[in-house]
Amino acid sequence: MYYQNYSKSKILRQDFSDGILDKYHMNQDTVDFFNQNENQSFVYPLLPNTTSLQEKFNWVMFESRAPWLKLLGIDAPYQEMLSEAQNLKDRFVIHRDEEGCHRGWRSLAIHGIASDKTNVPEAYGLDPLEVSYAWTDIQDQCPITVDFFKNKFPYKSYQRLRFMLLEAGGYIMPHSDSSQCFLGAAINISLNNPPGCRMTTVNGTVPFLNSGSAIFFNNYYKHSVWNASNQDRYHIIVHGAWDEKIMTMVVDSYQSAVG
Ligand SMILES: [Fe+2]
Repeated sequence: MYYQNYSKSKILRQDFSDGILDKYHMNQDTVDFFNQNENQSFVYPLLPNTTSLQEKFNWVMFESRAPWLKLLGIDAPYQEMLSEAQNLKDRFVIHRDEEGCHRGWRSLAIHGIASDKTNVPEAYGLDPLEVSYAWTDIQDQCPITVDFFKNKFPYKSYQRLRFMLLEAGGYIMPHSDSSQCFLGAAINISLNNPPGCRMTTVNGTVPFLNSGSAIFFNNYYKHSVWNASNQDRYHIIVHGAWDEKIMTMVVDSYQSAVG
């Protein structure tokens, strides 16, 4: 089947001729985006000789223009969190359905306006300055996930904290989410990332691990996701306020990325 050897040749529409991969009738614009960008790469510039940790942190987040940063030191119970997400599959709602172009993209808010309000407040006619965020009605059905974010993750508060599902064979069309090049808008956590499923940007493919990984993702750069596998993909996207201890983690992770 196609997804077993996707990296060996150019991707063509006719590769999707069997089984679940044909469910969503792959979109040619997305195929073209992957063909053009999948093998791109980004050279991480050296950190400047700034003196303080705060200055280094600010440079990484606001000046480096890095497309992503794999975080070192996040020790999450990925497998247990994946099981909790899978057990809640029936509660997920179609995400950004109004855009009408993505396929198999669903979400469920763990913390937010409500579990089925997975988009920004404006999408529901709400004022982002007035809206309140809280743990949602699914919190008792994902206790390990909630405990991790309440007590171990380096954030002091949350806005939207969501499970994100991309069904087997699904795809998210190429898009940008921001007009500003900023590394720190959100952390994207893979609970799994089946072989053949990849998020690709104009700077190449984000190195999510199937065993679990946490990555700051700069959504300024155009990106797309394609789950060319026969397994559902579950991630978590985190929006909130950083705890101070994240500064050391980010600077150390950036120095590791530079090599
Ligand atoms: Fe996006």
